[in-house]
Amino acid sequence: MSEQGEIRKQYWDKIYSLRPTEEMGWHQDIPEISLSFVRSAGLPKNISIIDIGAGESSLASHLVEFGSSRLTILDVSEKAVQRSRDQLKDHASKIRWMRTDILEFVPDQQYDLWHDRACFHFLTSDEEVSKYVEITQKAVVPGGYLILGTFSLQGPMKCSGLPIRRYDHRLLRKTFLGFKLEKFQYLDHITPAGKLQNYIFCLFKAED
Ligand SMILES: C[S@@+](CC[C@H](N)C(=O)[O-])C[C@H]1O[C@@H](n2cnc3c(N)ncnc32)[C@H](O)[C@@H]1O
Repeated sequence: MSEQGEIRKQYWDKIYSLRPTEEMGWHQDIPEISLSFVRSAGLPKNISIIDIGAGESSLASHLVEFGSSRLTILDVSEKAVQRSRDQLKDHASKIRWMRTDILEFVPDQQYDLWHDRACFHFLTSDEEVSKYVEITQKAVVPGGYLILGTFSLQGPMKCSGLPIRRYDHRLLRKTFLGFKLEKFQYLDHITPAGKLQNYIFCLFKAED
């Protein structure tokens, strides 16, 4: 891993060692919007799915319960991956785990569905954003889907002490070349401390 990747790993490992899952600002009991976007893509159960910067999200367990058998979880933090594995108990063995920085991810397969809630927005330079988009263009099958949830232009300027880049659906549409914007939704997430954070969620389809 690069020096920058190692710095990110250590930062996020520290964040995860400070608090339990339920107290993290981004925590949600049920990832309702993500699940509704997955449903609206109308995909069969045996598709390959990757969740980027998955942390301890319960999305994986919902997808496993739904019947997904080809699920990959990627996160830069070893602690997040370990805690997520522990939470998933017996289901953990059905999942492919990747502990890596997304910017250093070299996919060895293509995915029918790419999901990212609150990871992409930590990429703040044009170079990082371009690199991420380039990876999605290679990693998502033609006709496959990409679900992206980031802080909106009305959302906070920082997350977990780190600067983030904010978007609206127009900016995301311009950013994700090679993908067609099928659907978007703005919504307020209420943090465990009771603060409102506005997100933009987009469902993109990879061009054939
Ligand atoms: C705000 S949390 C969101 C967690 C989860 N997606 C959710 O919605 O509950 C951001 C996650 O992205 C991970 N992360 C941050 N930068 C990353 C990077 N460059 N590559 C991979 N994961 C990263 C962090 O370790 C953390 O788990």
